[in-house]
Amino acid sequence: MKEMGGRHILALCVLKESYKFFADLLDCIKALNRNSDRSIPMTVDFIRLKSYCNDQSTGDMKVIGGDDLSTFTGKNVLTVEDIIDTGKTTQTLLSLAKQRNPKMVKVASVLVKRTPQSVGYRPDFVGFEIPDKFVVGYALDYNKYFRDLNRVCVISETGKATYKA
Ligand code: HPA
Ligand code: MG
Repeated sequence: MKEMGGRHILALCVLKESYKFFADLLDCIKALNRNSDRSIPMTVDFIRLKSYCNDQSTGDMKVIGGDDLSTFTGKNVLTVEDIIDTGKTTQTLLSLAKQRNPKMVKVASVLVKRTPQSVGYRPDFVGFEIPDKFVVGYALDYNKYFRDLNRVCVISETGKATYKA
């Protein structure tokens, strides 16, 4: 909350993967807000990004939905992500967001993968660092499956073969 600058926060949920973390994180922010003497107004927005087929990034990122990115102008934007893998998706999203002159853009990600394919990008706020494995659950999917698992799990070879695109 200190780093977000004490101004209007626009919390941006990057669907579909981050909806669980987004809801949990916003519950925490709301609780902090309730217990502080100066509560910070917050609005929310949702966008979708798609770049994965099977367990591979296609490298071709699409942004779908959300308000016009011009709502970022002058705001403190908190982008909420599920996982930073190569970091390419987040970098592309950040460059799109910055074109709209927000006051600041910070990124919170529940997971960061230690992978040699990383472009070296680190988010501002990190939940957990994980090994270079494909994980599912807590809203992370493999070809749309396994989002409904309550916990983050490494996908098995059987799981991959069963739901291969
Ligand atoms: N799991 C699900 N989605 C992902 C992953 C992962 O490990 N890496 C990038 N997107
Ligand atoms: Mg996915």
